Amino acid sequence: FSLKKYNTFGIEAKAKQFVAIHSIQDLTTILQENKTQQKFILGGGSNMLLTKDIDALVIHIDLKGKKILEENEDFVWVRSQAGENWHEFVLWTIDQNFGGLENMSLIPGNVGTTPVQNIGAYGTEIKDTFVSCEAMTVANQEIKIFTKDECHFGYRESVFKNEIKNQYIITSVVFKLTKKNHKINTSYGDISAELTKNNISNPTLKDVSNAVITIRQSKLPDPAALGNSGSFFKNPILLKSDFEKIYKKFPEMKYFDISETEVKVPAGWLIEQAGFKGKRFGDAGIHKNQALVLVNYGHATGQEILNVSKNIQDTIFKIFGIHIEAEVNVI
Ligand code: EPU
Repeated sequence: FSLKKYNTFGIEAKAKQFVAIHSIQDLTTILQENKTQQKFILGGGSNMLLTKDIDALVIHIDLKGKKILEENEDFVWVRSQAGENWHEFVLWTIDQNFGGLENMSLIPGNVGTTPVQNIGAYGTEIKDTFVSCEAMTVANQEIKIFTKDECHFGYRESVFKNEIKNQYIITSVVFKLTKKNHKINTSYGDISAELTKNNISNPTLKDVSNAVITIRQSKLPDPAALGNSGSFFKNPILLKSDFEKIYKKFPEMKYFDISETEVKVPAGWLIEQAGFKGKRFGDAGIHKNQALVLVNYGHATGQEILNVSKNIQDTIFKIFGIHIEAEVNVI
């Protein structure tokens, strides 16, 4: 079974077996019937690089539906099933005038995978509106609710990538959104510039979403047209003491203070300085408008993209002494 359509990199990899799941009951049954089988859980396929065929039963989580669970004058609690497309869900919340997700418009993938790496963009992260998620254990089909605290969210991190990796399947997520007094966040330079350009001084949720969409479309390739997985690397976080030594040698380096003791350096800047932006190695390449994004020009294998990523990591380390880590899940 070809997985080409199920990963946004558009890598041609095969699954030994494949099943799409449309209900919790189906999921329970499939897991029970395949207790001894190797299993591989697939959501939106937007944050992984397949470097080989999957010698396992691939379970594609395609649970659909969204529901208002509760509301008061100020807030609404919305539950979305894991298989809903993230961007369509965000647009739906904006149509209802529910605030909180607008800065994360147009992020590829499905709702169920958003907590795994605490997705974020333009000054907002999923953890800011996340209430809880429901998940099933792969081993014995028990349902567990994870509260926000239990998710151990960090920068592109959660318990689902670390302590309990591969043990749970997220089936739905609950968000708490605003109904009024929306916390419009235009602190990110690109957004305020885009709004100013359009003479918008009191932006609505829709205005912010539109600004984000315009910015993303100008920098980030559409996976439907050019295979990619968004940012391939995380922005490295350095101790200030280490950073200062490096900064002495590279005073033009961009950075953001994130705490008293730590700074974040944009990996896209490092990659661009290292000369990789827009480069192409066969069908694998580095996007011309955003060096943090690796792309598949058509028939790149996962291994070829992985090789490019290693080349980038090694070169950055040689030049700057900084290790950049993949954000994408390499399979
Ligand atoms: N930069 C360069 N060259 C490049 C790209 C970026 O010099 O080719 C510099 C920019 O000039 C800017 C800085 O790097 O000063 C930051 O760039 P940008 O604002 O585009 O954001 P980013 O750090 O590259 C992060 C997220 C994105 C998210 C944007 C906006 C990570 C790993 N990536 O990118 O998330 O959309 O901020 O908030 O944190 C994703 O995770 O898939 C993703 C796209």
